[in-house]
Amino acid sequence: MRAVVTYEHGGLDRLVYEPDYRDPVAGPGDVILRVHACTLNYHDVFTRRGMPGIKVPLPLVLGIDVAGEVAALGPGVSGFSVGDRVLVDPIERVNGGLLGESFDGGLAELVRVPAHMLIALPDDVGFAEAAALPVAYGTAYRMMLTRGKIQAGETVLVLGASGGVGTCCVQLAKQAGATVIACASSDEKLARLEALGADVTINYATTDWVAECRNRFGRARVSHRNEGGIDVVVNFTGGETWVPSLKVMRRDGRLLTCGATAGYDPAEDLRLIWTFELNIVGSNGWSRDDILALLTLVREKKLEPVLHPERFPLERAVDAMRLLDDRGVYGKVVVEPG
Ligand SMILES: NC(=O)c1ccc[n+]([C@@H]2O[C@H](COP(=O)([O-])OP(=O)(O)OC[C@H]3O[C@@H](n4cnc5c(N)ncnc54)[C@H](OP(=O)(O)O)[C@@H]3O)[C@@H](O)[C@H]2O)c1
Repeated sequence: MRAVVTYEHGGLDRLVYEPDYRDPVAGPGDVILRVHACTLNYHDVFTRRGMPGIKVPLPLVLGIDVAGEVAALGPGVSGFSVGDRVLVDPIERVNGGLLGESFDGGLAELVRVPAHMLIALPDDVGFAEAAALPVAYGTAYRMMLTRGKIQAGETVLVLGASGGVGTCCVQLAKQAGATVIACASSDEKLARLEALGADVTINYATTDWVAECRNRFGRARVSHRNEGGIDVVVNFTGGETWVPSLKVMRRDGRLLTCGATAGYDPAEDLRLIWTFELNIVGSNGWSRDDILALLTLVREKKLEPVLHPERFPLERAVDAMRLLDDRGVYGKVVVEPG
């Protein structure tokens, strides 16, 4: 089969297109899927580069988010037939592991997946839209609703709003009835975020965004318990955005985090946390029910998986991945092995 293989950790040049790579073999309980869509996540960038503390079996086919068609069944599989449309829940919840990190993923024509990881895909949801959901949208769903408990009337600031997780956070916050402030690094991305429903947009590459937030929403003060500042800040960027995020929050506000694209050990300012009684809320991953709930929202047209305008054949997966490396992505980048 054709596949994009990572033989060793490193930069984009470590993604090798192989026109004739080994076909996957279905063991007991496995299915082989023909991959129709694989969407990329920043996690793929981390896996390619190599993450401290996480051992990856190399060579590895990256690609965590996969939708496709059942091409073959291993021994003992029931409930699925050849030709079925399916979405993969990428967490291996029985034996442990993650598709595209612990075992070969979706940047290939074919992928082996244990059948218990499959979700039947309704005919009215496209492969690319479905493949946008599990990692980014599943994580956003848990972070915003289960952990973050976003409420109508709250103000919600989303940093990195243009990416996979970010576009879903914007939509879920709007749907909950919140006022959404979306931050991104280009005016083009901000125009799209406005069209997606963001109430306020800030280009944090060209603006002092802390000053801008304080001008618009005030700032927390010890003497004024319930006045000034933003109710919820969504920060999966970390790095230099961490302390500024604390500075725009209202007293007793919530900072939601599920990642650290720009650095996991940022400078900290504990004074802000105790003085303004701030709440730091972590969120990790998603449940199967989260994916099913997202599929229902998509079918009901209440949520739109945002897809990057350009789609990529497998041969150009490196160009697709470059968009994430270079912060050029809007929404989810789709690779279509075809
Ligand atoms: N814990 C979990 O279960 C979980 C699940 C999914 C994702 N995550 C984490 O969430 C984060 C976002 O993931 P994603 O897949 O949504 O990423 P993505 O699609 O690449 O979007 C990330 C966005 O963050 C912004 N950004 C700010 N600083 C950046 C930097 N130094 N490098 C790259 N982008 C930067 C970029 O927008 P601008 O250029 O406009 O700023 C970019 O579009 C990642 O850290 C990921 O690991 C965690």
